[in-house]
Amino acid sequence: MAGNSWERVPIDAQSIEAPLSHAAIFLVLCVADGADALNKARSVLGGLDDLVKTVGFRDLSARLSCIAGIGSDLWDRLAPGARPHELKPFTPIAGNPHHAPATPGDLLFHIRAERPDICFEFERILLQSFGSSVTTADEVTGFRYFDARDLLGFVDGTANPDGKDIADSALVGEEDAPFAGGSYVVVQKYLHNLDGWGSVPTPEQEAIIGRTKIDNIELDDDDAPRKSHKSLATIVDTDGTERDILRDNMPFGRAGHGEYGTYFIGYSRRLWVIEKMLERMYVGDPVGSYDRLLDFSTPHTGTTFFAPSRRTLQALADGSPLAASSADGSGSTDND
Ligand code: HEM
Repeated sequence: MAGNSWERVPIDAQSIEAPLSHAAIFLVLCVADGADALNKARSVLGGLDDLVKTVGFRDLSARLSCIAGIGSDLWDRLAPGARPHELKPFTPIAGNPHHAPATPGDLLFHIRAERPDICFEFERILLQSFGSSVTTADEVTGFRYFDARDLLGFVDGTANPDGKDIADSALVGEEDAPFAGGSYVVVQKYLHNLDGWGSVPTPEQEAIIGRTKIDNIELDDDDAPRKSHKSLATIVDTDGTERDILRDNMPFGRAGHGEYGTYFIGYSRRLWVIEKMLERMYVGDPVGSYDRLLDFSTPHTGTTFFAPSRRTLQALADGSPLAASSADGSGSTDND
């Protein structure tokens, strides 16, 4: 999908590089046991692209997009014997003192648009199509908050890859050719202790995050006594290459209920990169020097999915064999 055609036609389903949006819904579903529910899930997934068009065409400027991710157990039901190399359920992490739980989920729908009503309309019709074949495990409505800040007050998303780097970081390539163009997706729903965070002086908050608060300048913490979130989340491969992921975190909340959160969503070409980030955050580097962001942010969910390319999603929906793709290494051709 070429970027400038978004002005003319709805965005293809499974466009991981779709633009950041002002509104989003993160919907996690479990598919009921039995062949009927599975067949229904296949049929809804097969119609996803049309549904994006049906709703998205009503206001192209709202730039509706939707990415479906498939969990490990459902993948085995849909395509026994052919699975993305690294796909497995979320591995819980028992750090000290903070833990990352694993929670259920067969399907993730990451629905983005400039208008919350368009996201809602899409979700409504989607769930109507599934009927009783699914139950909702989690549903979060996110919003973009001022300068793309999280509710802790920091600009979130700056170090994301851009341009061609998006595919290099987020899309599987020739190393797993049948699944090229797809992406591993990890989600975690965090709730913040905003009162506690508010009592931390700003310079200390900045040391925890690794950027200044007002103007978002990256801080060099090489000589700091404790690594920041930014540094713990920086992964360098054995050959010295930095491995990025694509994040589209969104704030959410209900002030009247004292609920303030960040929905973390990370797309990666390699699942191990996100797992390594989480290990460094929860276990610490060195061990014990965990991410102090976690003293004020508690994960309530943790689920891993694989978002296949549009073509692979169609094959899963049709029940056809997952043939090797013609992806050229960037994975992008698989979405054509
Ligand atoms: C409460 C949840 C979280 C909040 C509020 C949060 C917030 C932030 C902020 C403010 C930054 C600095 C600006 C930026 O580059 O985006 C950042 C960077 C980053 N975060 Fe998080 N984050 C959260 C969870 C996570 C998790 C769970 C991961 C990975 C598993 C992660 C991975 C990253 C990465 C890779 C960077 C960029 C590091 C770099 O500078 O290269 N974050 N995050």
